[in-house]
Amino acid sequence: MTQETQDGSGYFLYHSIGMYPGKAEDMEAAFSGFSKSWGALDDGQWMRALGARQQFIDLWSDLIGAPKGTLTSAENVTTALYSLIGALPEHHLKGRTLLVAGDCFPSLHFLLVGLAKRFGFTLRTVPLRPGESWVRDEDMIAAWDESVGLALLTFVTSTASHRCDLEILVAHGRKMGSLVGVDITQGVGLLPFHVDQPQVDFTVSTSLKWLCGTPGAGIIHVAEPLLATCEPELRGWFSQDNIFSWDLDAFAYAGDARRFDHGTPSVLACAGSVPALQWHARQDQPALLAHNRSLGQAIIDAAPSLGMELASPRDAARRGGSIMLKLPEGADPASSVDRLRDQGIFTDCRGRTMRLSPGTVTNAEGVDRLFAGLRGVAKAA
Ligand SMILES: Cc1ncc(COP(=O)(O)O)c(C=O)c1O
Repeated sequence: MTQETQDGSGYFLYHSIGMYPGKAEDMEAAFSGFSKSWGALDDGQWMRALGARQQFIDLWSDLIGAPKGTLTSAENVTTALYSLIGALPEHHLKGRTLLVAGDCFPSLHFLLVGLAKRFGFTLRTVPLRPGESWVRDEDMIAAWDESVGLALLTFVTSTASHRCDLEILVAHGRKMGSLVGVDITQGVGLLPFHVDQPQVDFTVSTSLKWLCGTPGAGIIHVAEPLLATCEPELRGWFSQDNIFSWDLDAFAYAGDARRFDHGTPSVLACAGSVPALQWHARQDQPALLAHNRSLGQAIIDAAPSLGMELASPRDAARRGGSIMLKLPEGADPASSVDRLRDQGIFTDCRGRTMRLSPGTVTNAEGVDRLFAGLRGVAKAA
């Protein structure tokens, strides 16, 4: 691999790990700062570590417009959702329906199937129509009646980059009297998202995709008035206002989102993600999206000539930042990815679907090299 093919121009994996110029150096500085602080022979380690975590929480709150005290860190999206389910007053779930789309992130579906019996809800999974790559919003609405106590929406799907219409879905959810939560993992950092536009009850995410952070640095936001009614069963000393209140008979939830904390929080992941969140906050957000859109459109335009079928919405307004393409008949997914990797083009496949997510470090020259590589894939098929 040549120097120029490792410059990020051919990096198409923002749906997996986001990159920005200087990311490695920034993270190295953050982690080395953490190590020095943690290994310092004084008594300020926790103050500094929790300070970095608070910075992470503040940056995230600013990013999605979460009012102070409504957001905290979580290890990942799955645990964040687990915390939320275990916190809800019984009437939201018991004897009710939990609505989710068949193209939600599988980990969350695995969790919900496992929790349904104990929490007494029926999981209603809206299927994809035969031959289609994402669940249509109208099918979600058709399946969404007044029995739905909670609906979990995926802002942007990881398999087709379908962006759901939050305005319409949330408005319908309000009419049905349901709680509405949204997994923003694949959209945040690229598409604007604000917890009040439209107003959702809870939001879960990670930081490592378009936001370019580290693994282990997830978040959960719970809006008022729901927050005040939540009593997470996954709780511990950090769920309290005073974490040093150790009287076994005097446990009391903190008044704010800290009630969703439990044991010692994962401060290292938060500290490692702070530089990425700061970098992101400094960017011209519409320009980040415009760059993605222009490279994405070039990929969509070239797909037919490469013998590849689009498996993402054509309309940019209904799409996240990824372009999914079906590999040509006869092309083997693993060897296609290997072949591209050998040319310094980084992609992945889910089944026969190749996922292409161009971001800040990707450029038009990399897209041209992608096309040349894909022509080779088509020829080899
Ligand atoms: C839509 C979506 N949700 C959630 C996740 C990650 O979930 P977790 O943090 O539980 O691993 C991903 C990862 O690819 C995703 O694409």
